Amino acid sequence: MTRFIGIASGKGGVGRTTIAINLATALSQFGREVILVDAHLSSPHIALHLGAPNVPKTIHHALRRTVHVKDAAYQHPSGLKLIPGSINPEHHEDLPHKKFKDILLDLIGTCEVVIIDMGPSGDEVLSVMRATDDLLIVATPDLPSVTEALKIIRKAKELGKNVPGIVLNRVKDDDTELSIENVETITDTKVIGVVHEHKDVRESLKQRQPVVYSHPDSKVSIQIRKLAANLIGEEYSPGKRR
Ligand SMILES: Nc1ncnc2c1ncn2[C@@H]1O[C@H](COP(=O)(O)OP(=O)(O)O)[C@@H](O)[C@H]1O
Ligand SMILES: [Mg+2]
Repeated sequence: MTRFIGIASGKGGVGRTTIAINLATALSQFGREVILVDAHLSSPHIALHLGAPNVPKTIHHALRRTVHVKDAAYQHPSGLKLIPGSINPEHHEDLPHKKFKDILLDLIGTCEVVIIDMGPSGDEVLSVMRATDDLLIVATPDLPSVTEALKIIRKAKELGKNVPGIVLNRVKDDDTELSIENVETITDTKVIGVVHEHKDVRESLKQRQPVVYSHPDSKVSIQIRKLAANLIGEEYSPGKRR
């Protein structure tokens, strides 16, 4: 069975792409067959994060049926398998985003988990949401982000999607932040992962690598592997990296 997990947020810039890339890499490191798909169709950033911006076959080509989606998969040097988006703005115009689910169905049986990096809001997000089984919500610990997260959670539930929980990202542990309890009360949703604000994440972006690959012993990498294990119902003990 192939499980389709969307990484959503409501608000932009909270770290969806970072969490999607690293969650997919961590699950691959655990031995799972994973494909990461860039479904932020209007502003795809995965190829930029991973240093391969000019690839000839992308999810945009697959949506226009000029290539088969399976042929748009690439292997990053970190081991991560991914289907990037096109950074050419002409490829974003009049995109048939409603076909996203049909296209993704062709990935059934090719891997165990498809991690889908989503845009923040709009019609495109609804089309992508329809292709998911689960929606993992990324938020930062502040009211605007959590309020937008709540809107996405409501929409997800309206569409009958499973919401395994919220990942709180860019946590600084200072007293200006909403607490985990605050976030859970506002959203009526469990926080299933916490990832701190950390220079290693920005350093890995500079190196065009997932942080769990470039900085495996970093505090944030341990937090991301914990989240990945949690999501697939496994125990993770830091120290043994598996
Ligand atoms: N935990 C973190 N610590 C430090 N920087 C982070 C963290 N998470 C994300 N960032 C940085 O924040 C910026 C936005 O992250 P990104 O994943 O692109 O967000 P989104 O996809 O939600 O727009 C990027 O520069 C990224 O490196
Ligand atoms: Mg993004």
